[in-house]
Amino acid sequence: MSKARIFSGVQPSGTPTIGNYIGAMRGFVQLQDEYDATYCVVNQHAITVPQEPKRLKEMTRELAALYLAIGIDPNKSTIFVQSDVPAHTQSAWLILCHTGLGELERMTQYKDKAQKQEAVNAGLLAYPALMVGDIILHDAAYVPVGDDQRQHIELTRNFVDRFNNRYGDVLVKPEGIYPKAGARVMSLQDPMSKMSKSDANERGFVSMLDTPNQITKKIKSAVTDSIGEINYDKEAQPAIANLIEIYANLSDKSTDDIVQAYAGKGYGPFKTDLAELVVSVLEPIQTRYEKLLSSSELDDILHDGAIKANEQANQVLARMNKAIGI
Ligand code: ADP
Ligand code: NA
Repeated sequence: MSKARIFSGVQPSGTPTIGNYIGAMRGFVQLQDEYDATYCVVNQHAITVPQEPKRLKEMTRELAALYLAIGIDPNKSTIFVQSDVPAHTQSAWLILCHTGLGELERMTQYKDKAQKQEAVNAGLLAYPALMVGDIILHDAAYVPVGDDQRQHIELTRNFVDRFNNRYGDVLVKPEGIYPKAGARVMSLQDPMSKMSKSDANERGFVSMLDTPNQITKKIKSAVTDSIGEINYDKEAQPAIANLIEIYANLSDKSTDDIVQAYAGKGYGPFKTDLAELVVSVLEPIQTRYEKLLSSSELDDILHDGAIKANEQANQVLARMNKAIGI
């Protein structure tokens, strides 16, 4: 029997954070043995908000190198850049023509991002349609993502139901796969908002390419509370709970183990150890990353990935066009 397909992507809108890693990217590596996996650098999603052209180009290649550095194996998984596969944007038009304006306006991520922009472009509103296209063009049965993508996965499932009801059994209906813990890592400066690589406040996140010095500084200056004791209590001590979760996610310890280990010790020693842990997880990834970034192997992998992804995506796009009468 052939393996079920999975698809996921990350935007090259900044260097991925430990939130992206814990919530999504680490899962990409774990899932590639069990599934027929396709992972995309979604550079066309990144331009829903302004990007500096030279940096966007660099960040696209950097993210692909990070995919490989964390352990995505091009012999097992397809890795490609979204803009190398025109079917993605082509499908987005078909999807937009079958999606209600109200559905898009209800997306909380749209509302959040729109609030932060001075002028909102129509792409920011339409963006979920492109994401629906990413998923369905690869016949994905499962989509490993963080918690913040739940609404977009629901939109995809509703779209597939609507399309298949109208035109027959054309598209595969996907399901989200969310990590049991760590599906939403919070900002180090505000435990009420999620950690994001595009946060204007750089102290809010640890990027996967931060130096040991930067990591230590950011974790030591993470906001805490005036209680002064390590407890895992998301309501009363959300900032500490977030740090405990990061610790648990990057080690073999449970949140209970961590609370016990730091009972009566205050925040200082805990933060010191957490910083060391994060450095030790990221260092080997960064070493592999540096080598990959300067190799032509990376470009070959993306070239081969684009060929495979084009074949797959064009088949589904043809099915959609035929169903619609185009
Ligand atoms: P960002 O919001 O950091 O720019 P993306 O939109 O590129 O991230 O999302 C890439 C993947 O990382 C998605 O699967 C998303 O759900 C996941 N993700 C993003 N931020 C977090 C977070 N703070 N905690 C857990 N997962 C996250
Ligand atoms: Na753990």
